[in-house]
Amino acid sequence: MSEPVRIGLLGRGTVGGAVCDLLEDRADAIREAAGRPMELAGVLTTSQGDFDSILADSDLIVELMGGTDDARRYVLAALEAGKPVVTANKQLLAQHGDELFAAAEASGVEIRFEAAVAGVVPIIRTVTEAFGSVPFTRVFGIVNGTTNFILSEMAETGASYDDVLARAQELGYAEADPTEDVNGADAAAKMAILARLAFHAPVTLDQVSFEGIESVQPDDLSYAKELGLSLKLLGVAEKLEGGIAVRVFPCFLYPGHPLAPIGGPFNAVTLEGPEITEVTLSGPGAGGPQTAAAVIGDLISIVAGNRVPRRPEGPIEILSDVESSFYLHLEVADRPGVLAEVAKSLSDAGISVKSVVQKGIGDDARLVMVVHRCPEKEFMGVVDEIADLDYMRSRPRFIRVIEEESV
Ligand SMILES: NC(=O)c1ccc[n+]([C@@H]2O[C@H](COP(=O)([O-])OP(=O)(O)OC[C@H]3O[C@@H](n4cnc5c(N)ncnc54)[C@H](OP(=O)(O)O)[C@@H]3O)[C@@H](O)[C@H]2O)c1
Repeated sequence: MSEPVRIGLLGRGTVGGAVCDLLEDRADAIREAAGRPMELAGVLTTSQGDFDSILADSDLIVELMGGTDDARRYVLAALEAGKPVVTANKQLLAQHGDELFAAAEASGVEIRFEAAVAGVVPIIRTVTEAFGSVPFTRVFGIVNGTTNFILSEMAETGASYDDVLARAQELGYAEADPTEDVNGADAAAKMAILARLAFHAPVTLDQVSFEGIESVQPDDLSYAKELGLSLKLLGVAEKLEGGIAVRVFPCFLYPGHPLAPIGGPFNAVTLEGPEITEVTLSGPGAGGPQTAAAVIGDLISIVAGNRVPRRPEGPIEILSDVESSFYLHLEVADRPGVLAEVAKSLSDAGISVKSVVQKGIGDDARLVMVVHRCPEKEFMGVVDEIADLDYMRSRPRFIRVIEEESV
């Protein structure tokens, strides 16, 4: 019988605790899949264990602490000591990927992080191994389950953002401090990782532009229903003329879009490239046992001796001047000529209107329209112009739209 692989576990919270359970409950299956049994060499928490002695006693380190200071120090020390690392820490990779990948390469050991993006959905393995030679044109998806739950609930119940957020916290789908989820920062870190792997470029978190869902109103969702659209927080990394754009933004999708039916706390990522056309993977994006299953998968792969050679990275231009289609919501005084004036401002900027819904009377009138794909800078310029017109009752609201013909 082979010697057990000794695992040093940093963090025994939601995910770390579930990893311990799986190592015990699934010991036979793990041994068969990896070719060797695995056992814990030591556990570090804020109140237990000493990192240096855990490192000395371990063949492999699993980092499930979160944060970027201690986690970076410990992961670097493990890699420099020639010990492979498995982590689920997206912020660590999005902020310090260069340093960590270089340390792994210098020591000739693996750093694996399947659980850092989209939980249990095996998107990292698919991008780097199954489709390792595909020249991706676009990688996009729902990579934050908290916001997907909130948007699904708002659309279904008509409740306000604040009420649904409180419910998400009660159900454990949102943290007590949900800032990083709802403002798009969590999704941005995951997209930095995915863009880096898909486009072989050292994309970092500060190069990802992101917007969150905090200002989405229930009536945006009810008008969208009338227009046949559903709302998602999307992360998009795409190849464009002259470089790539990596962005996170709330976005309306047409009904037949592969991501439109993904509801609740689920994640889904679509990959596009010449040979693969379009492949979508979906599943739970978080949760202790779910995330732990992805961590165990990485452990099995390393212990079984699989290596994922990292393709060389080259510099790439990160573009911000991109084109989108938009939903535009205007609260206006209901008087003759308003629609014509708005349409003229848009058409003067070369922006064409696809559909319009007009509601209400008096000071409560609303114009809700979808405009065709146009340069975002032009659109923002017209929105500023419209905002200054004297019949506007509040600041215009807009949300990007993915139209059927543009996918
Ligand atoms: N939860 C999920 O569904 C999920 C999904 C995907 C990825 N992740 C990622 O997985 C990682 C772990 O998340 P989690 O939800 O399991 O976190 P958690 O429940 O808060 O657990 C964190 C664990 O790490 C320990 N810890 C934190 N800082 C430490 C430090 N400086 N030194 C030593 N120990 C420290 C904590 O110790 P104490 O026990 O003493 O507090 C605790 O045991 C994070 O990077 C997270 O982003 C989580």
